[in-house]
Amino acid sequence: AKTHLHKWDVRYEYKSPDCYRKLVMTINGRTPGPTITAEQGDTIVVVLKNSLGTENTAIHWHGIRQFGTPWSDGAEGVTQCPILPGESFTYRFVVDKAGTFMYHGHYGMQRAAGLNGLIIVSPRLGLPEPFTYHHDRSILLTDWYHASTFDQAVGLSSVPFVFVGEPQSLLINGRGEYNCSLVAKTPAPGTGNGSIPTCNSNSPECAPFSLTVVHGRTYRLRIGSLASLSTISFQIEGHEMTVVEADGSYVEPFVTKNLIIYSGETYSVLVKADQPPTRNYWLVTSVVARKPATPNGLAIFNYYPNHPRRNPRTSPPAGPQWNDTASRLSQSRAIKARKGYFESPPQKPDRVIELLNTQNKINGQFKWSLNNLSLALPSTPYLVALKKKLKGVFDAEQPPDQVNLDSYDIYDVAKNVNATSSSRIYSLEFNSTVDIVLQNANTMTPNNSESHPWHLHGHDFWVLGYGEGTYDSNRDPQYYNLVDPIMKNTVPLHPYGWTAIRFRADNPGAWFFHCHIESHFFMGMAVVFEEGIGMVGRLPSSVMGCGKTKPHRSLG
Ligand code: C2O
Ligand code: CU
Repeated sequence: AKTHLHKWDVRYEYKSPDCYRKLVMTINGRTPGPTITAEQGDTIVVVLKNSLGTENTAIHWHGIRQFGTPWSDGAEGVTQCPILPGESFTYRFVVDKAGTFMYHGHYGMQRAAGLNGLIIVSPRLGLPEPFTYHHDRSILLTDWYHASTFDQAVGLSSVPFVFVGEPQSLLINGRGEYNCSLVAKTPAPGTGNGSIPTCNSNSPECAPFSLTVVHGRTYRLRIGSLASLSTISFQIEGHEMTVVEADGSYVEPFVTKNLIIYSGETYSVLVKADQPPTRNYWLVTSVVARKPATPNGLAIFNYYPNHPRRNPRTSPPAGPQWNDTASRLSQSRAIKARKGYFESPPQKPDRVIELLNTQNKINGQFKWSLNNLSLALPSTPYLVALKKKLKGVFDAEQPPDQVNLDSYDIYDVAKNVNATSSSRIYSLEFNSTVDIVLQNANTMTPNNSESHPWHLHGHDFWVLGYGEGTYDSNRDPQYYNLVDPIMKNTVPLHPYGWTAIRFRADNPGAWFFHCHIESHFFMGMAVVFEEGIGMVGRLPSSVMGCGKTKPHRSLG
């Protein structure tokens, strides 16, 4: 196995990813950042220099389980102190599983500022994959706001509440196209009083991404989403896609025209370039699951030898209906583990945790809660507090494993008068089998229930089932898929529905489980699990330095 050393400089720069000029977080001058490629079993070392000037940072390696290196998970507040401006931090971890993964900022709302990228892990040499293709290409999907993440964060915590709203653009590999005629003529910050245009449709930075294909060849497209808010439908005009991988697990192949992808998910699809090669085709992303107010994202599926920048003359195909929950649910259910390539789940759980997802107000602020608790991170990271047995860092009591779902009307406007902010965490018995049932409900808006992609750090989980309505602990487990459930790290919770997952608590450390919508996460839609802390190795001192681990705290 090899070691790959990457030196990354993280800073703010003015860029125009969708033609609109604003501050963007870059890694070595780029957003999305460089793709990390490695072979299964290799070690990745990233020496990250925080050159943001006035802001802390941390980077999470999304989908990498961090066996033996829980302190490299990059979850600020859970596994490390933030990296201060001017300081460097070294992440070191093994990529133990082949597949498509991602990385992104995990401090405040930095993911939404463009601090993101892909990780591609190929199988150990000699291990064949259960499908073949000629070329391997990757696509990172995001949505994009013109407001800064500071504006967004302040709005979300203000009374009255100011929501981030729908994004201005959808980006495909960091490129989109905003309609510059919508921009006010007042010079924006960073435009030198107007000497540099605020929005420039001719900027090379917002020229659409173009994927060149040769007729007759088969392409593996690795598609990941790190959208802040949007659930995205991805399609290629005139072409079908065969889904073969999800979050690093092989999928029993199925064919689709529209791939629905939630923030935090990755897929591989096989696409055969089998259409008349006399022209280019559109590659389109569109918003689903929320009423769209964002134009579709466009890129070019370029058949060689047509010019890669020539727009197809056809109009881009429209995506599916945004509110077609049933078809999204059926895609979720269609994703099964590939025959011959999966590990079956334990047949029974040792513990079942049901999490009721609600929106509520705490001291006038809008929050999201699980079983009436909205997570507020302590100033000392959980991993450090647990390993060093520091007292008084977080509420010692565990959050409840259940609330009474029978007496809660998930179709009624959320009342939740008892919701509170809390830093409590779940302690899991090492190596036990844990089921989590996510229960969705109405928000504080009448007749509204949202989709939430839930992401677990440090583990893959089996997706046992999805249901509509209120979960019934006597009836529903009988219908769990215990035969060929897919293993994923991110799973959608559908409006007014429930999702059940199972995992083994086999990774010593402290791990986030949260909604991957950046604003929901920021509003407390998260829980933390800890397991096997006694087995965690010696913590590097670089993860400390904040909260109760300040070096000279007796002087302060
Ligand atoms: Cu990709 Cu904690 O998130
Ligand atoms: Cu959410």
